[in-house]
Amino acid sequence: MTVLQDAFTLSNGLPMPKVGFGTWQITDSAEAYDATAAALACGYRHIDTARVYGNEDSVGRAVRDSGIPRSEIFVTSKLPAEIKDHDEALASFEVTMATIGLDHLDCYLIHAPWPWHDIGRDCAAGNKAVWTAFEAIHRSGRAKAIGVSNFDVPDLAAILDGCSVKPMVNQIRYFIGHTQDHVVDFCRREDIQVTAYSPLATGKILNHPDIQGVAQRYGKSVAQICLRYVIQKDVGPLPKSTSAQRIRENADTDFEIDASDMNLLDRLSDTDKARHGGEAS
Ligand code: A2P
Repeated sequence: MTVLQDAFTLSNGLPMPKVGFGTWQITDSAEAYDATAAALACGYRHIDTARVYGNEDSVGRAVRDSGIPRSEIFVTSKLPAEIKDHDEALASFEVTMATIGLDHLDCYLIHAPWPWHDIGRDCAAGNKAVWTAFEAIHRSGRAKAIGVSNFDVPDLAAILDGCSVKPMVNQIRYFIGHTQDHVVDFCRREDIQVTAYSPLATGKILNHPDIQGVAQRYGKSVAQICLRYVIQKDVGPLPKSTSAQRIRENADTDFEIDASDMNLLDRLSDTDKARHGGEAS
């Protein structure tokens, strides 16, 4: 049993592999296809995409070409954050399904509580309207789970107020030093599974001296420490890489960080600041 086979059980009973492969910022279609194919070949069974990433077609093709039964792969995609209307949400889901070329998604998320050009805008009414569309999609069986992304506590509370199906997932920006504990605690109480995009802070964390020190003690890479930390927090990491070697490295996290080192890592902050030596990508 490797860490790639470990799964969370979502509130509706659906298993979701704990580690997923993230495809944000893989815009080139050949690169997205190759990276997804490499991830599947090395054992990842959870792939995360979004309509706005522009790679749903490559991801879907790699899933179809893999020869792996569809039932064994957990595929997530997301509704563009700008859409806050019931009918537009249904129409966008159809575009995603036609582009990705699969008969169902395992999980469909609202990409953000507000449009990216207007972060923080109160879209509670729009999100509730979209959520009723998500509930209909879920009832149809074409998305086995539904959820949200980038939602803070008030955004979640607005959806929970009056919904008939609760969000099963909240995908948030999460890495050592940026753990949004108030969101995670709320989600835990509401049985909403948290998943982590940018678990490596998009590469900005990799030169952090304290994490490098921990990595040296365990004989692991900084990336492996970062991903293992997220797993031990009961959050599902979605590391992105375009290198087959790093994709494999990121899957190799069957070790345990001890409690004192978890405490040390818990105390770090500002881990994504470039002052630690710059970005990896
Ligand atoms: P690359 O695609 O060239 O491997 P995140 O998952 O937080 O978004 O981070 C992704 C960034 O981290 C990308 O720039 C990726 O570059 C880099 N990266 C992913 N895995 C590793 C690794 N194991 N070692 C070093 N850099 C990595």
